[in-house]
Amino acid sequence: MSNSVTVPSLWDDAKAASLDEPGLLLYRSNLLGADLRITNFGGGNTSAKVAAKDPLTGRPVTVLWVKGSGGDIGSMKLDGFATLYLDKLESLKGLYKDISQEDEMVHNLNHCTFDLNPRAASIDTCLHGYVPYRHVDHVHSDAVIAIAAAKDSEKLTKEVFGNEMGYLPWQRPGIDLGIKLGRMAEEHPEYVGVVLGSHGLFTWANDARSCYDTTLRIINKAATWLERTRRKPAFGGEAVTALTDAERQAAALHLMPEIRGRISKHEMKTGHFADAPEVLEFVNSRELETLAPLGTSCPDHFLRTKIRPLIVPHDADAATLDRLIDGYRKDYGAYYEACKHSNSPAMRDPNAVIFLVPRVGLFSFAKDKATARIAAEFYVNAINVMRGANGVSAYVGLPAQEAFNIEYWLLEEAKLQRLPKPKSLAGRVGLVTGGAGGIGSAIAAKLLSEGACVVLADIDKASLDETVASFAGTYGKDAVRGIVVDVTSEQAVIDGVTAAILAFGGLDIVVNNAGITIAAAVEDTTLELWNKNMAILGTGYFLVAREGYRLMKRQGVGGAMVFIGSKNGVTASPGASAYCSVKAAEIQLARCMALEGAPMGIRVNVVNPDAVLRGSKIWQGPWRQQRAASLKIGEDELEEHYRKRSLLQRSVYPEDIAEAVYFFASDLSAKSTGNFLNVDAGNAAAFTR
Ligand SMILES: NC(=O)c1ccc[n+]([C@@H]2O[C@H](COP(=O)([O-])OP(=O)(O)OC[C@H]3O[C@@H](n4cnc5c(N)ncnc54)[C@H](O)[C@@H]3O)[C@@H](O)[C@H]2O)c1
Ligand SMILES: [Zn+2]
Repeated sequence: MSNSVTVPSLWDDAKAASLDEPGLLLYRSNLLGADLRITNFGGGNTSAKVAAKDPLTGRPVTVLWVKGSGGDIGSMKLDGFATLYLDKLESLKGLYKDISQEDEMVHNLNHCTFDLNPRAASIDTCLHGYVPYRHVDHVHSDAVIAIAAAKDSEKLTKEVFGNEMGYLPWQRPGIDLGIKLGRMAEEHPEYVGVVLGSHGLFTWANDARSCYDTTLRIINKAATWLERTRRKPAFGGEAVTALTDAERQAAALHLMPEIRGRISKHEMKTGHFADAPEVLEFVNSRELETLAPLGTSCPDHFLRTKIRPLIVPHDADAATLDRLIDGYRKDYGAYYEACKHSNSPAMRDPNAVIFLVPRVGLFSFAKDKATARIAAEFYVNAINVMRGANGVSAYVGLPAQEAFNIEYWLLEEAKLQRLPKPKSLAGRVGLVTGGAGGIGSAIAAKLLSEGACVVLADIDKASLDETVASFAGTYGKDAVRGIVVDVTSEQAVIDGVTAAILAFGGLDIVVNNAGITIAAAVEDTTLELWNKNMAILGTGYFLVAREGYRLMKRQGVGGAMVFIGSKNGVTASPGASAYCSVKAAEIQLARCMALEGAPMGIRVNVVNPDAVLRGSKIWQGPWRQQRAASLKIGEDELEEHYRKRSLLQRSVYPEDIAEAVYFFASDLSAKSTGNFLNVDAGNAAAFTR
């Protein structure tokens, strides 16, 4: 059975035949996690009770393998499972007296660890351990949550599943819910699983394959029933129509930087834009205004998306945006104040994560691109849930206090505290022109490694594609984009900045670096050669800087521009008058922009490299021959010549330039603008004065 509503079985008997029990558990987990309709990213967990030998006594023991805290069943490896002695886990029941001990019991799970496995057990562990079947799946299926989040969820569970699924009302997971679930499974041998109100489902069996099949069968039963039964059109039908592709894009270009600036005053955020058909169906619908404020129901959903989204008109002006965004923050503060306990962690960022824009789609913003993208995916899960629940009954969100208790749960806070400190450029977006070249790619790598998202712009498509693919492998696909841009074309530069907005929501770091070098004595400098130098290194730097500046001004959270100048911008060199002149112009342009940008916190600085031979394409072309000829030395003597010429007697590499760019791009240089920094291993003629 497979159509657009049901999820297909991916099980391969031949593959499964080669696997042991933990291997089968991992296989099943990865298959389940591969389809976001079965479970959202990072949501759900799976387990198997496996016979093993105790490493100390050699005695046979039963070990519970269960997905540990964190991670995602779709991409996890064997080390993502916690392993616990099942008998020790059982003995926790003897310690447990009442619900006030819940959190303390989570700590006790550590005492049950088998074989010193360092993976922390999750709060769902008892829900697996206490079910008297060898294999247990817990997933957050959109179709089943739709039933679980309906007003009359218990009645619907019976209607859809008859006698094969039990029902337990919403309760935070932990030992208490584990005991209830285990008891229900024992008392009802006819059950193959249980629906948890507002949350998801548990399913079980005594072998891995049957467990997988059961999970899929139950999900598909729910999906098919919902599709047959739900009111159509979804969400009461269209209230407004979608704008055209081009108009939606224009709205995103206008709104994303405006929103980003307003919510990034304390921490920079990266954006994501989604306008898939299911998003448009919801944001354009008659029920948007009533459903959106109810918030998401599944705890996993709202931990990622915040308790509720903010609706923004596609043509909102600055005053409207101020009012809406401030209003959201005030509401969030009121929710925190009304629900907080005496020991609650301090209020977190009160800004919305999901922005719904009728006729356009949705934007999500988070501390990095992957988190923003995943938040948008979670909201699509939530839309699917609302479509189902409201189509057959009335959708209900979790009560505010319950939502708060999860969002500010001390165990959740402890998880956040364990996260590594954000990198220095987290949430920032950089544009590097000539990003496929020697110095440009080293700069991009440095910005990426410090947590920024980077758009590489270059005229050389083949090198660009290769560089972007390699960075995507190292830093993740989410963080990097490439766009073919000729910096001498006004429209191409505008398109480059547009690409940055659509990919990440705005721009904070602009690195002007694309360049060429053609050398000639003055009398041999043709007008064409002169103009080419001016076009790429002069006009190109101007166009890129101007577009970046306009965008930074609109965002209103400052920004950093770094121009890659040259030692030749400060000191004259023979046989390269066009290049030297335009490099000097770059430095003066940076100073002018530093003056105008200062009131807005836009800093403009210059890094002057000299003689960076390694990796540079400039030094593979005619420039190499010209320089060697002009110096009357062999081409292979150039590197050594420049090294010896420097005061420090050292060669300069692209990574050295990247370090200086990083300094000017980051807050390390927050109090520096209009400056230049030579990275030339020391050259007295280029000293600043
Ligand atoms: N390598 C050095 O010794 C040195 C010294 C001083 C200054 N610089 C400056 O550093 C910058 C980078 O130089 P590099 O050594 O990495 O050279 P490179 O040739 O390795 O990289 C330059 C990149 O710019 C791209 N580019 C050229 N024209 C373009 C255009 N019109 N639009 C978009 N992209 C274009 C090229 O495709 C290339 O990928 C240049 O501005 C150069 O003047 C280099
Ligand atoms: Zn769950």
